Amino acid sequence: MRYASPYTPGAGAMPRYLAGRESMLEEADKVLEAVAMGYPQKPVIYYGLRGVGKTVLLNAVEEKAEELDLLYSHIEIAEKRSFIVQIANASKKIIHRMSVIESVKDLGHKALGILQAFQVTYNPEEQTFTAGIVEPSMYVSSGVLSDDLTEMFVAMGRMAAKARRAVCFFIDEIQYMKTNELEALINALHRVNQLRLPITIYGAGLPKILKIFGEVKSYSERLFQYIQVAELSDQAAEEAIVKPAAELGVTCEEGAVREIKEWSKGYPFFIQELCNTIWERTEGSVIRQADVERAVPIFLEELDKGFFKIRYDRCTKKEHDFLFAMVRCGDLPCTISNVANILHKKVSSISPTRAQLISKGIIYSTGYGEIDFTVPQFDRYLKRINPELTIESIGENGEE
Ligand SMILES: Nc1ncnc2c1ncn2[C@@H]1O[C@H](COP(=O)(O)OP(=O)(O)OP(=O)(O)O)[C@@H](O)[C@H]1O
Ligand SMILES: [Mg+2]
Repeated sequence: MRYASPYTPGAGAMPRYLAGRESMLEEADKVLEAVAMGYPQKPVIYYGLRGVGKTVLLNAVEEKAEELDLLYSHIEIAEKRSFIVQIANASKKIIHRMSVIESVKDLGHKALGILQAFQVTYNPEEQTFTAGIVEPSMYVSSGVLSDDLTEMFVAMGRMAAKARRAVCFFIDEIQYMKTNELEALINALHRVNQLRLPITIYGAGLPKILKIFGEVKSYSERLFQYIQVAELSDQAAEEAIVKPAAELGVTCEEGAVREIKEWSKGYPFFIQELCNTIWERTEGSVIRQADVERAVPIFLEELDKGFFKIRYDRCTKKEHDFLFAMVRCGDLPCTISNVANILHKKVSSISPTRAQLISKGIIYSTGYGEIDFTVPQFDRYLKRINPELTIESIGENGEE
């Protein structure tokens, strides 16, 4: 094509056209407006499969927070990073920003004092906080993570209320939070909610977070608003395909659109990846069905080499067998007892493998004892790399 591709395959890459999320964004608008006006709202948690568009949605909501002049900060949780250090640093910046307001200066000192004591206790890289750098604080931390975070949130919330400002944290990849960190965050938000202080969060993560939240605190079901981010509807998928091209004067034939929808099943990441592949291999101002058909094998090859393989390679042989057994079940989600039957094992003996796969974020429990893949179309990939769905531990015909 004459122009660079308008498609945006890639984690968190804001698409040229954010399709199918209008009502979610309208809802977020209302929530943030209410928060900005001093009416606290339930924190919101977006959950959904890999590549479905949680991060870009979170970023779009963040833009609204910017427009409404909220005090906000974006945190991306990583397996090897401490959430507590991240939230402490983010809070510090927000408190500093409020500290310039004359009426809340006093409260600011208190909040920063708590924060200081807090960081000394919890920063895992403690050696970076020598006594010389940290001024002695009159606010001594309790040493209990939950209590300290709560105290800090309350102090920050009081400051915000007095300054007539509102605070919002955007927290991505929430499933990587450690249990004690999540517990502390839930406790702190619970307290802030009781006191009706203007602090809220927008979080995003894999479907397993629903279960994790419930396990950490049973009341978290009522404390948060959980919103599923699902694949795009037929019409939204069409818009995601057609609109970025149309901006550059390129149209898509009906058959081409149909084919792209069929291969992507409405998953935003797949739409972007496939459209990008087509774009780079097509000349002229019309994308035809034949162009899509030519691009599909390359698209699948790219996914198989990257998106899917990265996840597959993180699993052990035993876990691979479990995954192939899931595909052999036929219909997904499937039951653990069906998987156990196929593997000729007892449910109890394969439960640890199931737990490991959930912990690695490859599968999740859909409820009612059923499991499914966290990565869309992982079953198709597994069939491509192992068409007979041979399970090593039992052999091709099912004999052990
Ligand atoms: N509503 C949408 N319309 C069009 N494209 C979208 C939409 N949402 C996401 N995308 C595209 O889909 C891809 C994945 O988006 P994103 O990284 O936000 O997904 P995610 O759910 O956060 O995935 P992960 O769980 O891996 O973090 C990106 O290439 C992005 O440009
Ligand atoms: Mg993401």
